[in-house]
Amino acid sequence: FLVSSREMLLKAQLGGYAVPAFNIHNLETIQVVLETAAEMRSPVILAGTPGTYSYAGTDYLVGICLKAAHIYQTPIALHMDHHESFSDIRTKVEAGIKSAMIDGSHHSFEGNIDITRKVVQFCHGWDCSVEAELGRLGGQEDDLIVEDKDALYTDPDAAIEFINATGIDSLAIAIGTAHGMYKEQPQLDFDRLGIIRSKTDTPLVLHGASGVPDEDVRRCIELGITKVNVATELKIAFADAVKQYFIEHPQANDPRHYIIPGKAAMKQVIQDKIRVCGSEGKA
Ligand code: 13P
Ligand code: ZN
Ligand code: NA
Repeated sequence: FLVSSREMLLKAQLGGYAVPAFNIHNLETIQVVLETAAEMRSPVILAGTPGTYSYAGTDYLVGICLKAAHIYQTPIALHMDHHESFSDIRTKVEAGIKSAMIDGSHHSFEGNIDITRKVVQFCHGWDCSVEAELGRLGGQEDDLIVEDKDALYTDPDAAIEFINATGIDSLAIAIGTAHGMYKEQPQLDFDRLGIIRSKTDTPLVLHGASGVPDEDVRRCIELGITKVNVATELKIAFADAVKQYFIEHPQANDPRHYIIPGKAAMKQVIQDKIRVCGSEGKA
């Protein structure tokens, strides 16, 4: 069956590690994430943006995860990453998904509180956990592009007010990471993270982890991050390996052959990120 990510994150917080959330797109990417997590006995979250659910089909993704839960004899946390619409979340909760992110970060503070509170009220009736975002990340996720100059760091006092007003289970904060890779190495605001964490026990989420040096991710976890989102590095590893395969085998046309190196490359990134998160052996 499918589970919320609430217990996973609270356990990680007590244990001083983070749960990695990997963005998946189809059968193969779900397989490689779950296989690697099982081998390393790591908790894991499977994340899909609205674009992913419409690409693959919500029922197919739920069906694959339910089958995998049976095969691995473990509940699975399938998550709605960066969802922006209440009705979209409601439909997916009714389809069985128990972990949601409502991203109201492009709204005003009050507007973000309003939509987040509405999502929390609905989701908690279905035992679905809710992550929200305060502040705004730069970069591109799905079709939303945020210029660096429009990125906004999370204000610590506003974060506490937001958590109290909404009843969320976890909060995504903006401390200098961005979606996608970086032109220059990101300068993270660790002090800001430390201050936010000193004011709340609500699990904190780091988005945009692709391209962030391992030691910076580790420092974020030491300072209280309990969920680390990785998307772009997985896509790059997969695509580069498949491209290389076609360079070496220009006549290839069998997906059962050319997808294999993509999965293998993706697996290495997953292993690395699980180690950086400190989540190996914690499942
Ligand atoms: P990256 O693409 O930078 O890994 O960001 C992932 C993310 O935040 C998904 O929500
Ligand atoms: Zn994100
Ligand atoms: Na990134």
